Amino acid sequence: KFDSHQRVWLFGYGSLIFKADFPFIERRPASIAGWTRRFWQGSHDHRGTDSAPGRVLTLVRDAAAVCAGMAYLITPEVFAHLDHREKNGYLRLATGIDFDAGGSEVGLVYIAAEDNAAFLGEAAERDIARQIAAASGPSGRNRDYLIELADALRALGKIDPHVFAIERYLAQLDQG
Ligand code: BEZ
Repeated sequence: KFDSHQRVWLFGYGSLIFKADFPFIERRPASIAGWTRRFWQGSHDHRGTDSAPGRVLTLVRDAAAVCAGMAYLITPEVFAHLDHREKNGYLRLATGIDFDAGGSEVGLVYIAAEDNAAFLGEAAERDIARQIAAASGPSGRNRDYLIELADALRALGKIDPHVFAIERYLAQLDQG
């Protein structure tokens, strides 16, 4: 069991970057090595429905990759709130977190592995954009998730070819 005085670093690479609706002690731009961000997880409860599931992020292994995001120092109780919010197939994994400003810590990250029921897996980025454009759920439009994420990455000065390519396809769809 956690001691309530304990503090834990949590690495966010998706909605946690732009939607920090939980108490945190401190946050720092950070990255984790060996993982890359992909819109490969299905969402029928947050950004989609059973009949039109959305696509949200997970991490997949890529030894050469570095995934940029935001690290939050939180108390263990906050995980109870987040575990509920992120229940759809995500598990917590321990990882090394490298802070942009220097230094590193061990922390946790939520990952939806390919053996979870909602995992959709790889698809062409153009098709991912089409699926995202058509999906909306209790947490809002799937496209807003993508655009808010892309904006948040730009604000951090980060480039993510997968996210930005889907964003461009989405813009093309809007133009007809
Ligand atoms: C994240 O931003 O790191 C995240 C958000 C929801 C589920 C899993 C990860």
